[in-house]
Amino acid sequence: MYKKITKLAVVLMIASGFVFTELAVAGSEPVKVVAAPIERPDFEPNLKSAKKVVHPPYEMAKADKDCSFCHTEKDGKSGALKMDMPDLCSQCHEAKDSKKFIHGPVGAGACTACHDPHESNNMKLLRFSNINQLCTSCHADKGVFLKTTKHIHPPVQDQCTNCHDPHTENFKFQLKADGNKDLCLMCHVEKKEHLAKVTHKHGALDRPKKCLECHNPHGTNTPKMLVKDTGKDLCLSCHNSKMTTDGSKLTNMDQHLKDNPDHHGPILWGDCAVCHNPHGSDNLRMLKKPFPETFYAKFDEKNYICFECHEPAKIQDEMTTTATNFRNGDKNMHFIHVNKDKGRTCRACHDFHGTKEYPHHLRTKTSFGAINFPIRYIETPTGGSCAPACHARRHYDRKKPIENLK
Ligand code: HEC
Ligand code: HEC
Ligand code: HEC
Ligand code: HEC
Ligand code: HEC
Ligand code: HEC
Ligand code: HEC
Ligand code: HEC
Ligand code: HEC
Ligand code: HEC
Ligand code: HEC
Repeated sequence: MYKKITKLAVVLMIASGFVFTELAVAGSEPVKVVAAPIERPDFEPNLKSAKKVVHPPYEMAKADKDCSFCHTEKDGKSGALKMDMPDLCSQCHEAKDSKKFIHGPVGAGACTACHDPHESNNMKLLRFSNINQLCTSCHADKGVFLKTTKHIHPPVQDQCTNCHDPHTENFKFQLKADGNKDLCLMCHVEKKEHLAKVTHKHGALDRPKKCLECHNPHGTNTPKMLVKDTGKDLCLSCHNSKMTTDGSKLTNMDQHLKDNPDHHGPILWGDCAVCHNPHGSDNLRMLKKPFPETFYAKFDEKNYICFECHEPAKIQDEMTTTATNFRNGDKNMHFIHVNKDKGRTCRACHDFHGTKEYPHHLRTKTSFGAINFPIRYIETPTGGSCAPACHARRHYDRKKPIENLK
């Protein structure tokens, strides 16, 4: 049984492209499995020409039985060239090394590493029937990368020349625009519009590598070509120090999560971007949906990102026996605290990143203006109580409702 499960799981993992993972089998120690790399089909011969491509000067030379335009001898037999490349080619073609960055073989005059000077079965007299095959014939590491990486950027899978000029360009790596951002926005027009209009921008995009701070332009083993194993690791790779934004201090989230090991569900999944938009948004803290900015706010379901996952009934139903455990008898304490003109926002009691001392992601201390006071929560099997700041302890009990003295 044990072997069977393991084998099936391995097959499934290979099929789903896992490279390396831990596999837990019921009743046994986790087994480390190294799966084979992902097999991708070879490149399609999409540059194959319907009929043979013959270089016009070669065609002419053959017709005239005079090859001396390019060769030293009329019959061209020895192959000795009349002049070095690229000068030979530049007699008729525009220079291919006129811009700031020149591709290695072009600079070296190795035009014929990529083109056949006579004739070819491929378009543009290329020596390969597919651009990526041409490029990876020298850039062998990229060939391995294309075959073994789980999430390849679609334009890379298509052809390298979507972004790189094979000869020369004004941008580093012969890119068609600055590779940190402008190149990306050339195709990702929707991101260009988004970045231009959002009110809460992400400081990450002002770091030197811009989009490439987070994405690899070719691909990675993480979805969306992220440069770290999970979205969370990515976020915490920068949010591991105190930062300031518009004069206010931002929590060191890495430290906060280390100090508060009871992490909120989505953070356990490794996903910060389920709540935050890494490209900025129009909401507080670049949240994907609104969340009130203040300690008190008039309750409106639409203002809470929380209801993307949690049932709004837990705040909306004045009386309930099911919508929430935060109730005194069937009186909904969430309704009482939150659902009014001057309602407390969730942050008064909960921390939605991580907590330590109390269950239900209840925070140890709550901050009200400049004051930070402990809530002193005590849980009971059927309810609980708290004693924030100077308030007397207040109790709630789901089985036997408690009358709190004023
Ligand atoms: C447009 C210029 C051009 C013309 C015209 C041309 N060749 Fe070449 N030929 C070249 C270049 C460039 C090379 C060097 C190829 C390399 O670097 O691999 C070459 C190489 C050769 C070689 C060496 C072996 C090989 O194929 O690499 C032979 C033989 C040859 N040419 C024969 C001919 C003959 C015969 C003709 C005329 C019918 C001719 N060539 C016309 C450019 C030309
Ligand atoms: C005597 C002039 C002449 C020389 C020398 C010459 N070419 Fe050409 N080449 C042409 C002409 C004419 C064409 C056809 C132009 C067209 O289709 O736009 C052509 C076409 C090409 C094409 C295909 C372009 C396409 O759009 O399909 C390539 C690639 C090319 N040449 C490379 C070279 C290289 C590399 C050399 C040097 C080894 C070279 N040529 C030397 C005249 C020349
Ligand atoms: C690394 C491979 C590579 C080298 C080296 C190379 N080319 Fe090209 N060349 C290409 C590819 C790929 C294309 C097709 C580009 C496209 O369709 O965008 C091309 C297109 C061309 C064309 C036709 C389109 C155009 O840009 O005018 C000519 C002419 C040409 N090359 C000439 C040359 C000459 C001359 C040299 C040497 C100085 C050279 N190439 C070196 C890969 C190469
Ligand atoms: C004939 C071999 C050859 C082919 C084919 C070739 N390259 Fe290159 N490429 C080189 C060499 C050599 C360099 C220079 C390496 C260096 O400077 O360290 C280079 C450099 C580069 C660089 C810059 C890398 C750096 O670290 O500066 C890029 C980007 C690149 N090639 C992309 C391509 C693309 C895209 C193609 C296909 C259109 C291609 N190459 C095809 C040989 C080749
Ligand atoms: C979507 C655009 C895009 C496509 C398509 C693309 N690249 Fe790149 N490539 C980039 C960017 C951006 C950089 C610069 C990365 C950096 O600054 O770290 C780069 C850098 C490189 C480099 C130098 C740095 C390195 O990673 O070694 C090479 C070599 C290279 N690319 C080869 C290729 C090859 C081969 C292909 C096709 C299989 C390809 N690229 C397709 C965008 C692209
Ligand atoms: C030549 C056009 C082109 C360029 C340039 C380009 N992309 Fe893309 N990108 C695409 C296409 C096409 C897709 C697939 C469709 C989609 O998701 O929009 C894609 C998808 C993506 C995805 C989602 C991948 C997934 O797994 O769903 C990310 C992330 C991305 N691109 C980031 C970038 C970054 C960062 C750059 C700049 C380095 C960039 N792109 C440059 C065309 C491009
Ligand atoms: C701070 C890190 C970070 C930066 C910087 C960043 N991204 Fe992303 N990007 C992400 C994450 C994380 C995702 C996955 C989002 C999700 O799951 O909702 C993503 C997703 C994407 C996608 C897939 C579609 C989508 O929106 O989910 C595209 C396309 C994309 N990014 C392009 C870009 C471009 C272009 C830039 C530069 C202008 C950029 N990104 C800068 C982290 C970043
Ligand atoms: C490359 C570094 C980097 C990465 C990666 C990064 N951030 Fe940031 N983040 C910053 C910087 C820098 C600031 C802003 C400081 C400033 O405004 O000067 C910031 C600000 C923020 C803010 C506060 C925004 C505001 O102004 O209110 C939030 C929330 C945030 N990041 C969440 C995330 C999330 C979620 C991720 C992962 C998807 C992430 N960050 C990844 C660098 C990064
Ligand atoms: C369930 C939704 C949710 C998830 C998941 C989430 N956040 Fe937040 N985050 C929020 C909300 C809501 C705020 C605003 C809190 C406030 O102002 O009281 C916030 C605020 C922040 C801030 C600003 C903190 C400050 O000092 O004011 C940062 C930085 C941040 N989040 C980073 C992250 C990172 C990194 C992750 C992943 C490890 C993450 N968030 C996951 C909802 C979420
Ligand atoms: C993307 C989905 C998602 C969003 C958005 C979300 N949560 Fe959660 N939440 C969960 C999951 C999953 C759990 C269960 C795992 C756990 O206890 O963290 C959970 C649990 C909780 C718990 C503890 C439940 C218990 O009984 O221990 C509280 C409190 C909570 N969330 C509050 C919030 C608040 C406040 C917000 C809005 C800022 C929010 N959540 C937004 C998914 C989400
Ligand atoms: C006055 C403090 C307080 C406020 C404000 C508050 N909660 Fe709670 N919440 C609690 C307490 C206490 C519990 C624990 C109930 C129990 O299990 O005894 C709880 C439990 C939860 C749970 C676990 C499931 C349940 O309902 O029992 C979720 C989810 C939750 N709260 C979400 C929210 C959301 C979303 C907001 C803001 C819209 C919010 N809370 C506002 C005190 C508060």
